[in-house]
Amino acid sequence: MSLYTQLQQARSEEDVKDAYIKALGLKGFTKGLIDIQTNELWFEAKDTSKYSSYAMFTQLLHYVQAALNRGETVPPFLAVIDTEKAALMKSADVLPFLTKKTVKWGKSASQYTQEALDEISAHIGTHFVSFRIATHEDEFISTVKAAIKSGDIIRTQITPDNLKQVFDKWVAMIGREIDGVSEDDYALLFFADIMHDGTVSTHSNLPAELLHKNGAPVFSLGGKMYELRSKEGYRQFWAIYHKPPKSEYRDYLLERRDSLIPLDERSFKGAYYTPLAVVDKAYDKLTETLGNNWQKDYIVWDMCCGVGNLEVKHSNPRNIYMSTLDEADVDVMKATKTCVAAQRFQYDYLNDDITDDGQIDYRLTNKVPEGLRRAIAEGKKILVLINPPYAEAMNADNVSIAGG
Ligand SMILES: C[S@@+](CC[C@H](N)C(=O)[O-])C[C@H]1O[C@@H](n2cnc3c(N)ncnc32)[C@H](O)[C@@H]1O
Repeated sequence: MSLYTQLQQARSEEDVKDAYIKALGLKGFTKGLIDIQTNELWFEAKDTSKYSSYAMFTQLLHYVQAALNRGETVPPFLAVIDTEKAALMKSADVLPFLTKKTVKWGKSASQYTQEALDEISAHIGTHFVSFRIATHEDEFISTVKAAIKSGDIIRTQITPDNLKQVFDKWVAMIGREIDGVSEDDYALLFFADIMHDGTVSTHSNLPAELLHKNGAPVFSLGGKMYELRSKEGYRQFWAIYHKPPKSEYRDYLLERRDSLIPLDERSFKGAYYTPLAVVDKAYDKLTETLGNNWQKDYIVWDMCCGVGNLEVKHSNPRNIYMSTLDEADVDVMKATKTCVAAQRFQYDYLNDDITDDGQIDYRLTNKVPEGLRRAIAEGKKILVLINPPYAEAMNADNVSIAGG
């Protein structure tokens, strides 16, 4: 069960703590006044999302101040967690400030004064990285794990395999905040944004450009300037991801721009089609299991692709074969320009091409594209990525074998 699902079922602060302990695989922890304590991290936890990260950090820093005053060791990282969000910061960013002992704390950590909250908020300002667990659960977990291992907060790299997922999150957090720009131009602005190290662009000839005006990001496209309505999403997004991408990936990523169409939950979702949040999760698990390059290394065949939701987050559609029972679904994919570079075709994978003695002979219908037949014959690495028709099948055994 995902961390987010568990948090939604949490009934108490203990449940929240336990959910995070499990998801982060924390070892050697204690629970007490400081909600969770390990050698590397202290956590402040809440069983509601009504407190801001600033308020939670103010409480946690009260304990840090007390520990400092007693001459005790403070761990390298501090985190605040609740049922919707989590945030992480390096203790080093706040220790010099606390040693000055200027904050007027309240009677106890939870009874913090407005003055303490204001002072702490002003100081920690942009030092912490925050994550919305519903959309960035995996990024949070991997950032904390990497922090424990490396002693630093390392941002997530943008790679060929997470490009599409990162783009969708960029659209939600940044794209939709850009004033007056057409959705069709999001991909161009996205590339201008990611291919930039904060000072210079990695490429001089991109159609759009990232500039800065009074310290705030501004996009230039087709002779027009576009500003952000709010910079908060921008700040949060770039606290999670690293830019620019590694040099070895840059050109490859730019070539994938044709496959980036902003994705909202599609109108034809329903129980029947695979929800995009599930697709997102499945891709994270595939990367975890098959490694960072699975979208390059594996040929994907979804023989129950419906309208193709399971493939829309794939960054390399040229490696995909998509077939499904209803020709109408293939037409929908064509009309919505879903995975244009993939091979999309009508095929009944349970009945087509089966010989009288139960063998498979692709020459019977000739529907399966030559490239896929060759890949199968040559024993290439093929990933059967499938959300099978579990509910409508006459024989569930058949389906689970095909799905497995
Ligand atoms: C659970 S849905 C998968 C939906 C798909 N991932 C999507 O998001 O659109 C199962 C799909 O398998 C298709 N299907 C059912 N029986 C099939 C068969 N024998 N051969 C190919 N496709 C089949 C259905 O039409 C349906 O589109």
